[in-house]
Amino acid sequence: MLGGGGFRVPLIYRTLLQDADGAGHRTELVLHDTDPRRLKAIAAVLSEQAAQHSGRGGAAAPSVRVTTDLDEALQDTDFVFSAIRVGGLEGRIRDERIPLAEEQLGQETVGAGGVLYGLRTIPVAMHIAERVAAVAPNAWVINFTNPAGMVTEAMSGVLGDRVIGICDSPVGLCRRAARAIGTDPDRATFDYIGLNHLGWLRRVLVDGSDRLPALLEDDVALESFEEGKLFGAEWLRALGALPNEYLHYYYHHREALAAIRDADATRGEFLAQQQDSFYAELSRTELGHRGAFRTWDATRREREETYMAENREASGGWHRDQCDLDGGGYDRVALTLMRAIARNEPTTLILNVRSRGAVPGIDEDAVVEVPSLVDANGAYPLSTGTVAPHQLGLMLQLKAVERATIEAAMSGSGAAALRALALHPLVDSVSSAACILEAAAFRGR
Ligand code: G6P
Ligand code: MN
Repeated sequence: MLGGGGFRVPLIYRTLLQDADGAGHRTELVLHDTDPRRLKAIAAVLSEQAAQHSGRGGAAAPSVRVTTDLDEALQDTDFVFSAIRVGGLEGRIRDERIPLAEEQLGQETVGAGGVLYGLRTIPVAMHIAERVAAVAPNAWVINFTNPAGMVTEAMSGVLGDRVIGICDSPVGLCRRAARAIGTDPDRATFDYIGLNHLGWLRRVLVDGSDRLPALLEDDVALESFEEGKLFGAEWLRALGALPNEYLHYYYHHREALAAIRDADATRGEFLAQQQDSFYAELSRTELGHRGAFRTWDATRREREETYMAENREASGGWHRDQCDLDGGGYDRVALTLMRAIARNEPTTLILNVRSRGAVPGIDEDAVVEVPSLVDANGAYPLSTGTVAPHQLGLMLQLKAVERATIEAAMSGSGAAALRALALHPLVDSVSSAACILEAAAFRGR
């Protein structure tokens, strides 16, 4: 796990522990991080999770080893999870504040903020890809590192189809839609299409018929869950699909921007404070000392409760559902993917993979986020059929932004960086894009 001192690592370990009883489970987890203090804190949470697991009579927990040496971490691994945050939360704050000073959206993955984050992250992701290719050429890389679409595409230049990007937002949307329809998500087929953080659920098939049109007619059911509350029944009906929550920044750009601008702190600022006190508290706790897990879990809950707070504020102010606070999206996708590959248990997951002709109008090497069939040989995107012009148009525009970002990050080209920012549909002026680039002191490699 690269970014092994990261806050969400215990979620992954939780699913590994649940899986430990099954055949062919993982035996060892190596946590790699550049920061030994963070590694120590997270290792303390994991050791308490392992103790709880064996206390309940569970099968042997995967052992945990920590290291700050990348090559050592990669040695003999079957799966590499990458979930790093280059520049830390300080970087995230800059990605928010620099565009905001220009009245542009500063967000972790969307708008100018996402481009700045990509520019900083891609060189590091490429280095990782090269080390994986050299040290663990047979490993599968599961990329959580944001901006996940462009990072996965950049890494695929080195690793081909051995890198697979994942995100919890499509699976969360599908689960919520199934619940609103009154069906078990495992019995439904979800027709979802897009790029990472830019997608639409177009059909929900149950017993061979699409149940989405009926849901779209039912205001109460529609506004009973997150996406319905964010976008409103009228717009969802007009659109004829359920957008990924991140499309709120596009469809309600003005309101989202205003809410972010008016908030006391940006998401990055809030998290920097929250996470600082979490890691500080854990550094005062001895390894094996009870309480690390409780501290982590309380912090996790607060993080979940405050997720996308400004967007919720901008759409009327509402609280997240209990069932959306438990996590389980992010880690379950990762485990299901790993299992499908390791045990050759074919399954369908919404993943970030090269399109290879699955999406008409999108070129073969472009990483898209679509339902994909996974087995021991990797992930294959399923053919999506025709894409509506407004969806394809937005996808192509964002793909151009992602590719300009990759080009700028790899070559250091200022022109490519300017193109990346100025072509973003949420950046409304080339001069403003130039100011953002200047303020971010982009210097390439
Ligand atoms: C979701 C997205 C991730 C993103 C995260 C941000 O899980 O799918 O890509 O990083 O939210 O959450 P945060 O608590 O860091 O604002
Ligand atoms: Mn995501």
